[in-house]
This record gives sequence, C-alpha cells and structure tokens, in this order.
Amino acid sequence: MRLVKLLANLGYGSRKEMQQAIRNGWVTDREGNRLKADTKTAHEDILFDDEPLDPAQGVVILLNKPLGYTCSTKDQGRLVYDLLPDRYRMRKPALSTIGRLDKETSGALLFTDDGTFLHKVISPKSEVPKVYDVTLDRPLTGDEAALFASGEMMLESEVKPLKPAELEVLGENKARLTLHEGRYHQVRRMFAATGNHVTDLSRTRVGRLGVDGLDEGGWKILSEEDKVLIFSA
Ligand code: URA
Repeated sequence: MRLVKLLANLGYGSRKEMQQAIRNGWVTDREGNRLKADTKTAHEDILFDDEPLDPAQGVVILLNKPLGYTCSTKDQGRLVYDLLPDRYRMRKPALSTIGRLDKETSGALLFTDDGTFLHKVISPKSEVPKVYDVTLDRPLTGDEAALFASGEMMLESEVKPLKPAELEVLGENKARLTLHEGRYHQVRRMFAATGNHVTDLSRTRVGRLGVDGLDEGGWKILSEEDKVLIFSA
C-alpha cells in the first residue's frame, strides 16, 4: 500500500496531511532516512515522528474498562474509545468492540479491526468462556449454582434456554460466574431471575486472557500468544 494511504488508514491524518508530513521529513526508516510517498518499506521499519507505526490491520486490543464508559462510537458521555489514542478512532478499517460491556460493568473488553477474528470470538461454536466477578445486593440462597448449570434456565422474553454456566461462591454476596454465550445484560438478568440484584460487575477473563497487570483504563495490543489464550479452555 502506498505510504500516504497507509498512514491515513492508520489515522495519523488526512491524505493531504500525510503528503505534507512526508514532505516535512517526519516519516523515516529506522536508520533515519526520509521516506518518499512511493517508497516500499516494511511496516515495522517505518517511523512517524521517530515513533514506530501503530500496528497494521489485524490488530486486537485488550482494554481494562473502567465503570462509567459506554461501548459506542457516538453516544453522549464517556466512550471506551476515549481511552485509546485519538487516531485509533480514525483507523480504516474501523476498530470495533468484540461484544459489549454495560456502562456500569468494568473489566476485559476487546477491540479489533479484523471481522473474521471478531466473529470467531463471538461465535457460539467457539464457546469462549467469559468470567465475571459479581457482587450482589442480597446473600446468595445456595440454589443459584444448580439453576445456572441446568441448561434449562429461561430468561424473560427469550425462547431458548441458557447454556449451562458455572457459579463459584466467593462470599455471602459475592460470586464468580462463567458464561459460554453472551446475551443482552445476561449476568444481571440471571441474578434478577433469582430475586437478587447485581450491584457490582466486572469481567475478569475472556477465555484464559485476563486483565491482570492492566490498570483501570489501561490497554495493550495483544501478541499472538495472547490471542491464543482467548480460545484456550
Ligand atoms: N452481563 C451483563 O449483565 N452485563 C455486562 O456488561 C456483561 C454481561
């Protein structure tokens, strides 16, 4: 791909601005040689303003989402995209979230610009386990684990029972829930069906990939090894 188009697609600026950036000598190789608009240089050898370029198409990002941010590109208020560098919002193809977390849910949220990868993660066939730490308004009754594991639990206004989910009790009103599907507000609705109310919800893992080591609002670009962890049981 031509350098101007490559930089514009990565969100560094418009094509016109990128032509100017190249003329100004801001785009170089690792030896500091100025690159011309028609130079063919490997992505990893190109620097913009002395910094390596953002990853090429096919990127996957893990964000440790704080509470209060919406998974949308255009809602009012704070958006999960505000936590990434501005230019990431201008990328072509665009970065999408892989599934969503509610505004008042924190934890592991993935983004990608790779449609095939996105579908593989959310596909029911992949059965990627998602692990949630839950705090409840009232003590657990002790009946929840069997109900959630039954494969027969129905949520209001749905026609298909939920897939079996595993509940680990962590305290009187704290639990860890592992889901193998992703329905709308699923965790909150499951506990609401037992007469309880979720007061705090955080997704700690997608597959075996966790947010450990990432501060709230922190993010990282996934390595190939990280991506494999998503699909590991
Ligand atoms: N289940 C919910 O209820 N909310 C989320 O954000 C994710 C799963």
